[in-house]
Amino acid sequence: MGKLSTYTSKTPNAKGFIPYSEEENRVWHELISTQIPMLPGRACDDYVRALQLMDFPHDRIPQLHEVNEVLMDYTGWSVKAVPALIDFTSFFQLLATRQFPAATFIRRREDISYLQEPDVFHEVFGHTPLLTDYRFAAFSEAYGKAGLAANKRDHAMLARLFWFTVEFGLLRTPDGLRSYGAGIVSSPGELIYALESEIPARQQLDPLEVLRTPYRIDIYQTVYFIINSFDDLFDLAQQDLIALITRARKLGIHAPTFPAKAA
Ligand SMILES: [Fe+2]
Repeated sequence: MGKLSTYTSKTPNAKGFIPYSEEENRVWHELISTQIPMLPGRACDDYVRALQLMDFPHDRIPQLHEVNEVLMDYTGWSVKAVPALIDFTSFFQLLATRQFPAATFIRRREDISYLQEPDVFHEVFGHTPLLTDYRFAAFSEAYGKAGLAANKRDHAMLARLFWFTVEFGLLRTPDGLRSYGAGIVSSPGELIYALESEIPARQQLDPLEVLRTPYRIDIYQTVYFIINSFDDLFDLAQQDLIALITRARKLGIHAPTFPAKAA
């Protein structure tokens, strides 16, 4: 990230509780009440069903232990409070042990429609529901393990695989394309853009192509990758990701389809 954050993640107290102010709870309320009505016909059914399982409160930010109770029941995952940005090794280590790293601060009102950094709304609303799905859970764990086994120079390549699936993935359904990526389902703007705009490319997920495709974190995506089912991710989790990286590196990285970031 190019500039320093003005946000600090909150540390849970000894009982695992994070106190949020009334204003912070109101921001959560506004975000969740805006986003839920936008999901039908845009987010995939698996996500919508998983969101129902999570049963997040609307009037306050859920506590991580509440989120964990549901995740533990379904797949043994949990959420771990971390600063907004952590290094790759810590990130992979957590995923490999079925812990999802989550920033715990919430955006301020002036940033309500867009925040580049992941906040607790993105992490909890966007990421945690699908971790109740065994296929998605298996992929996320395998991804973490591949990260730990990978050479440091391959971290950026692996980051693309996470980016174009867990963060910005689309799913083909009999009713048309739907979103499952956390970056899309937690963003009012990108939820529409990813599915309805004529600007971005949308292509079938080919792991080699994903590994070779650069991205920017501060703009709507210029390309989205589509899976046919979460089985595709489950199958990908069984593959030798390190061997795929080696092949992708030999083939080379694609030229960006987005403008260079202004200095
Ligand atoms: Fe995320």
